[in-house]
Amino acid sequence: SGAITLDPGYKNTGSCESAITFLDGEEGILRYRGYSIEELAEKASFLEVAYLLIFGELPNELQLQKFNTDILDQSIVNEDMKTVLKGFPESAHPMGVLSSLTSALTAFNPKSVNVDSEEDMYKAIVKILAKFPVLAAWTLRKKKNQKLFNKDTNLGYVESLLKMMFQDDKKKTYKLNRTVVNALDKLLILHADHEQNCSTSTVRIVGSSHAGLFASISAGVSALWGPLHGGANQAVIEMLEEIKADGGDTSKFIEKAKDKDDPFRLMGFGHRVYKNFDPRAKIIKKAADEVLDQLGVDDPILEIAKGLEKAALEDQYFIDRKLYPNVDFYSGIIYRAMGIPTEMFTVMFAVGRLPGWIAQWREMRLRKEPIGRPRQVYIGETHRKFKEIEARS
Ligand code: CMC
Repeated sequence: SGAITLDPGYKNTGSCESAITFLDGEEGILRYRGYSIEELAEKASFLEVAYLLIFGELPNELQLQKFNTDILDQSIVNEDMKTVLKGFPESAHPMGVLSSLTSALTAFNPKSVNVDSEEDMYKAIVKILAKFPVLAAWTLRKKKNQKLFNKDTNLGYVESLLKMMFQDDKKKTYKLNRTVVNALDKLLILHADHEQNCSTSTVRIVGSSHAGLFASISAGVSALWGPLHGGANQAVIEMLEEIKADGGDTSKFIEKAKDKDDPFRLMGFGHRVYKNFDPRAKIIKKAADEVLDQLGVDDPILEIAKGLEKAALEDQYFIDRKLYPNVDFYSGIIYRAMGIPTEMFTVMFAVGRLPGWIAQWREMRLRKEPIGRPRQVYIGETHRKFKEIEARS
């Protein structure tokens, strides 16, 4: 119909009103609930930021304590979920496994499906915040064919995630390193929300049919997996490794990225909204230097990344299109220095994005938004007469 406006990729369509995240792409500004990302990354913990995103205010000590206790109370994942995991091959990508396990959670927590009251919503929110990092850690241990552990309830949110991922099978120990904990905390904060990106829009649209929170989050995980979205962090390291194996010359790859007949893109570059720089990338670049230095890691890939960034920023193609490094460009280098395998990078992104997905889902439900249902401009055949099979050419 003539009344329908076409906007492929929703480049100019606002899908909702939201009070969660402010983003100014021209100025490179990102704020959660009014607080600048720079300040939050420096001063807050991931759990505080999760609370802020979901409920709108920074928690006071008592509120944070209660939130933490409520999460810890829900942290055991049903033993039968291990059977679900067992069925997957070791070669399975951790993101496929994570999305399946998140979906399977709905089967083990049937009461979390219908969440029409705020109280039921809170219960579902706390449950997914508690169990999702356990599932994330399990996807790594599955890859390594290691034992599966539940949360160490004496540790903080980020610490227990690291322990579940890396603890020794037999001794059950893991030596926490402050540098690693702080760096991961910061990375998770920087990934925690980014308004109506692909996975978040997915979560809102799935949730808008009143499918439960876990089903909506599982859909978000699937959307995040793609290399144009969260999967870019894995793709960046693979690209940098390829450049290294090829002798380290970045210009060949820049030329490839510019060639319109070549599907290759510079991974970790460009953004739908940021046309100046990605403020998250600035913080992460600085953190990469600091973390590698503190951990005593000398990764030749960091130098390649810096060289590639410099060359791209000086190239007219990238200047004309306002293409800058995004959040995914340097994050993988930090994950690597922490000993996190490349295939797990997008899983880490998902753990970071979880509070944002939850906040956006909750906002959508509380505002009683209508079901998400875009229209289309039909360009197919007009009315045709049915042909019997013998009459078809
Ligand atoms: N390398 C080479 N050319 C690029 C790149 C790139 N990374 N990104 C955009 N372009 C070009 C694109 O070819 C187009 O050129 P032209 O005008 O000549 O046709 C122009 O820049 C505009 O790009 P677009 O594809 O229309 O922009 P978009 O807003 O639809 O896409 C994007 C945004 C992030 C998907 C894209 O920049 C991209 O594919 N980047 C690489 C993947 C990546 O790093 N993704 C992570 C995004 S940030 C975090 C997250 O979402 O998880």
